[in-house]
Amino acid sequence: MKNYLTIKDIDSLPIWVSEARALKRNPTEFKSLGKGKTICLLFFNNSLRTRLSTQKAAMNLGMEVMVMNFGSEGWQLEFEDGAVMNQGKSEHIKEAAKVVSQFCDIVAIRAFASLTDKTKDETEVVLNGFIKHASVPVVNMESSVGHPLQALADAITLDEQNIKARPKVVLSWAPHPKALPHAVANSFIQMMQLQDADFVITHPEGYELNSEITKDVQIEYDQKKACKNADFIYVKNWSSYSDYGKVLNQDSNWMITQEKLGKSKFMHCLPVRRNVVVEDAVLDGEQSLVIEQANNRTFSAQVVLKKILENS
Ligand code: CP
Repeated sequence: MKNYLTIKDIDSLPIWVSEARALKRNPTEFKSLGKGKTICLLFFNNSLRTRLSTQKAAMNLGMEVMVMNFGSEGWQLEFEDGAVMNQGKSEHIKEAAKVVSQFCDIVAIRAFASLTDKTKDETEVVLNGFIKHASVPVVNMESSVGHPLQALADAITLDEQNIKARPKVVLSWAPHPKALPHAVANSFIQMMQLQDADFVITHPEGYELNSEITKDVQIEYDQKKACKNADFIYVKNWSSYSDYGKVLNQDSNWMITQEKLGKSKFMHCLPVRRNVVVEDAVLDGEQSLVIEQANNRTFSAQVVLKKILENS
């Protein structure tokens, strides 16, 4: 594997999950694999988990790590071919990606959706700019439309619970005051499509995600009905996809409560707004898997980096 850009880069989800769980049992087993290699983590947006877990994963493999908050520290990048750069943008992706490639063996990029221009977001301008012009493998640390490291960590977390052969998993929208991207939900759906599970998505009308991603997944507008007998409820806010980037609904009735959760396990990628998305009792209770999901981010990143290093 050269790049890790989407869930589609996983050739066998069960094998990757099993390898990640083996790495979790013995994180430094392949410490010599990354010796003398460097990963450069470029952040165009904020992060806690992705930054620290990817760094930890690289260190477990013996790599050196360089981190740059590109959004606040780097030059503003131009991505258009033939642009006359007489405005605010100081550096073209053509030079930037080539320069970064000289300093590292893998480059990892976080660049969120703008949520103002759907077409532009869906062309993945930043990620694809690096793929096109960098000479080293590229890892997606959350792009406009996907967060495949998170989804792989979620697959590890589901597997560890080992509740039953075909669990019921619900992806539920929840309210949020700000417009949030679709990336986590998209990748979670793509990952669930590789699982043997009874998978249901629930959200208010108007919050339908890209139908090319949701494909044949059951969508239920009644959250209570969707969550009935669920083994896992994965909660995430996203802004409208059809009315792109808009917050159409802040109905607090969609917040996840302990009563709604029942006996299900609770999942969320974090960060999460307490008592807006989910009430304290759920996050503080024993059915919450959020801390273990975050822990598994290290091993999802580590299996990805290990495969890239083995291929290079
Ligand atoms: N879940 C996740 O990607 O967290 P961060 O935004 O903190 O990296």
